[in-house]
Amino acid sequence: MEIRIYGDEVLNQRAEEVTQIDVELKELIDAMYQKCPEANGIGLAAPQVGVSKRFFVVVVPDSEDDDGNVIKGTKQVFINPALSNPEGKCKMEEGCLSVPGIWEYVERPEIIEVEYTDIEGKRLSGRFEGLLARVIQHENDHLDGILFVSKLPRLKQELLKKRLNALKARKRNY
Ligand code: NI
Repeated sequence: MEIRIYGDEVLNQRAEEVTQIDVELKELIDAMYQKCPEANGIGLAAPQVGVSKRFFVVVVPDSEDDDGNVIKGTKQVFINPALSNPEGKCKMEEGCLSVPGIWEYVERPEIIEVEYTDIEGKRLSGRFEGLLARVIQHENDHLDGILFVSKLPRLKQELLKKRLNALKARKRNY
């Protein structure tokens, strides 16, 4: 499984709805659950591995707060997600496995509601905030062919142009 890099056409396409949750899809999701932390990411969308379908995984490891309390992580797939009811605004630094080496602050809604299908085919919904809301919005953008760098102010994009073009020229995969 190779992660597609900036400049790869599949990253600019609008992905198609998932119509069937079969063995093939489940295997792909398992492979993505593995690949995501391996590549030091916390989210991975299907187009990033060359599959133009509407789903992404979120893999956030358990962590500890300052008092040593365990903060439970998450390992979840969102199939055919639909985002709604955004609330608030906040800036957070984002990176992307498909845009290696570039980290920038992006403004997005702070809280978001998501309706999605899980691996069993059940339609669920949830309200997410903080890091999860951020990852979900970033990954959901991938399903519409949108990369986080395109959400940056124009001037910032101009400044990144050389590095982005270099990625495009290199198009080296992990
Ligand atoms: Ni990304």
